[in-house]
Amino acid sequence: MGFDKKDIISIRDFSKKEILYMLESAKKIESMQGREKLLRGKILATLFYEPSTRTRLSFESAMLRLGGSTTGFSDPKGSSVAKGETLSDTIRIVEGYSDIIVIRHPVEGAARLAADTAHVPIINAGDGANQHPTQTLLDLYTILKSKGRLDGLTVAMVGDLKYGRTVHSLAHALSLFDTRMIFVAPESLGMPDDLLDELKGKGVDLTSTASLKDAIRSADILYMTRIQKERFPDIVEYEKVKGVYVLSSAMLSSAKKGLKVMHPLPRVDEISTDVDATENAVYFEQAKNGVTMREALLAILLGRLK
Ligand code: CP
Repeated sequence: MGFDKKDIISIRDFSKKEILYMLESAKKIESMQGREKLLRGKILATLFYEPSTRTRLSFESAMLRLGGSTTGFSDPKGSSVAKGETLSDTIRIVEGYSDIIVIRHPVEGAARLAADTAHVPIINAGDGANQHPTQTLLDLYTILKSKGRLDGLTVAMVGDLKYGRTVHSLAHALSLFDTRMIFVAPESLGMPDDLLDELKGKGVDLTSTASLKDAIRSADILYMTRIQKERFPDIVEYEKVKGVYVLSSAMLSSAKKGLKVMHPLPRVDEISTDVDATENAVYFEQAKNGVTMREALLAILLGRLK
């Protein structure tokens, strides 16, 4: 199957067939002979207007592992953004220095604007509370690797479902498969109504609850998320919900056999470190899968993987 998209901005831009193609490409690249030369001569620019460890470093690692090079900034204060340069102007400049651009920005829609301006491929590494499509792809890849399938699973998403771009992207992607969803959040941090309406309209079997214990009993995948202090307009509202869910290894004694615990990371306190050594924990493996998934995405968008 070919791939005719220039950019990766939202998971909504992709069909189920295209998503499966990207996942198959990740599997293929893992064992590809000569992959260390696949992107030789290509330059990746990473423009991060917000902090990141996993997304930026795994994209850079992916490019280096495929033989390419990287440039960019991890803090706009050290770039001409601090002098007032617009996003469009920055993109017009950086596309002259690189073959593909990965951007993280606090404003929803910023990556789409960058893609409209750029002639080189743009990858959205997170735009505000909106979308984080490459996280979703590595999440799906992790589910596929750890459970052997994407259909017939119950996936519980826990924590900040209101501002969490990872769960917004993931819920949409999973709606393309036969997935039962459980949304676990305090009332003030529930999934946005428009997303709930969309999922219900597509006939998704979904439950909203505040009980983590109930979800643990029926989930195949427990997708924990951080309560994101930085997204709250009012700190008082954050103080009311911080620490609301803390998963411990003791709580996993009631879990369904084979439950896998995922988290996009970073975590604060929502998963106790005593979960790390359990056979349920796959969140460090999930972060590592990000390199493979992003290798595949760079190779596809740069026309080196068919
Ligand atoms: N999962 C994720 O986006 O992590 P970073 O914020 O460290 O990139």
